[in-house]
Amino acid sequence: MPVHYQIEGRGAAEIAASVEAGVRAGTIPPGAALPPVRVLATELGVAANTVAAAYKGLRQRGVVETAGRNGTRVRPRPPVTSRAARRVPAPPGTVDLSTGEPARRLLPRLGPLVQRLAVSADEPVGYAGSGAWPELIALARTRFAADDVPVADAALTVTSGTLDALERLLGSHLRPGDRVGVEDPGWANLIDLVAALGLEPFPVPVDDEGPTVDGLRRAVAAGVAAVVVTSRAQNPTGASISAQRADRLRHVLADAPEVLVIEDDHAAELAEQPLATLAGPGRPWALTRSVSKPYGPDLRVALVAGDQTTIARVEGRMRLGSGWVSTLLQRLVVELWRDPSVAATVAGAKHEYAQLRSAVLSALAARGVSAQGASGINCWVSTSDESAAVVTMRDLGWAVAPGSLFRLGTPPGFRFTVAPLALSDVERLADAVAAAVGAPGANPVVGLSR
Ligand SMILES: Cc1ncc(COP(=O)(O)O)c(C=O)c1O
Repeated sequence: MPVHYQIEGRGAAEIAASVEAGVRAGTIPPGAALPPVRVLATELGVAANTVAAAYKGLRQRGVVETAGRNGTRVRPRPPVTSRAARRVPAPPGTVDLSTGEPARRLLPRLGPLVQRLAVSADEPVGYAGSGAWPELIALARTRFAADDVPVADAALTVTSGTLDALERLLGSHLRPGDRVGVEDPGWANLIDLVAALGLEPFPVPVDDEGPTVDGLRRAVAAGVAAVVVTSRAQNPTGASISAQRADRLRHVLADAPEVLVIEDDHAAELAEQPLATLAGPGRPWALTRSVSKPYGPDLRVALVAGDQTTIARVEGRMRLGSGWVSTLLQRLVVELWRDPSVAATVAGAKHEYAQLRSAVLSALAARGVSAQGASGINCWVSTSDESAAVVTMRDLGWAVAPGSLFRLGTPPGFRFTVAPLALSDVERLADAVAAAVGAPGANPVVGLSR
């Protein structure tokens, strides 16, 4: 996709600002190829070095990426677009399985808890009483300990969700240009964040049991300064790190005690499988557990455990910026954790997601389609032509997320989220997926009216 936008400027900063303005306005869309360095330099009457410096600056901030022999192009989700601009709504009449969101109908209702909080949190909190809320930290410590997270000598803190924790962890430990091992395919937001921090992602392949041992070994050999792994409900494949896999991964990491190991256990109370941790004393480590999936993304709270130095850095960074997570939100999480009816709602959601996933995977298997989805709310389907598959799915009434958002070196595929489904949708969805990937067992399908 060539760019039809007049890039301007005499110096590197001006040229970079001009490209960024085009990206922000949407005139240079995601995926667009920028003009080759020499071509733009001639057009603008500047030295090639000046354009190269502009492109380098944009690359370090995650706006553009190098596409090998294809030159430089805008990243699929550069960190300068507004969320509204990025979110393409599913066409009317399609069921939107593209979001990766938990089902709203399965989230606990907050109203009664907020009412309770209105009484118990009546006393204003000032700067002096702020920070991680002791009661929340104490409860989190017990919950982590119950899952064998090595919290005995660990510090705990609270951030505004997982990405906030990851940004502070990576930003305080690493320098621009450092390599970070990330799952491939992996969480699109993390891949974008790594690019925006000027870090270099090093892809670690994933199978149903988590990051592969060889993949992690290669990442360590390549000198990664940190690795980020998802404990359960990996996004997009649903992988869940098994106890055996964790043992072998720990063995690989033992040779690299300086590497920061970050575990993202965002499935938390929704997880069906037991947690198998990788990190622990003797290295920098952190395990984050967001409340977004079981209790609602809008709460913006994650609990983070780790070694004293790592957590002190996270808190130090936070103190210089947003300060702390509002104690009102932290106390709301305490209320959620203490309420037996909330626990029952979360248990119900866990059961329903598992039922939906297993029904979809069986229906796909019956049509000769192998898909991944060992845990969580997402399934991943490999296909040779990702764009065509996404379009076919849309034509058949289902919006799915293109694999390009999640892939570094992984072959094409797409992700669909089971959360919006009902069991009665499963057979029709499986027919559509089989048609989209051209499975031999596909039934003839016509467009859906829903
Ligand atoms: C892998 C992964 N980690 C964490 C989260 C939750 O992020 P946050 O806590 O910032 O809402 C998600 C949400 O989709 C996710 O897919």
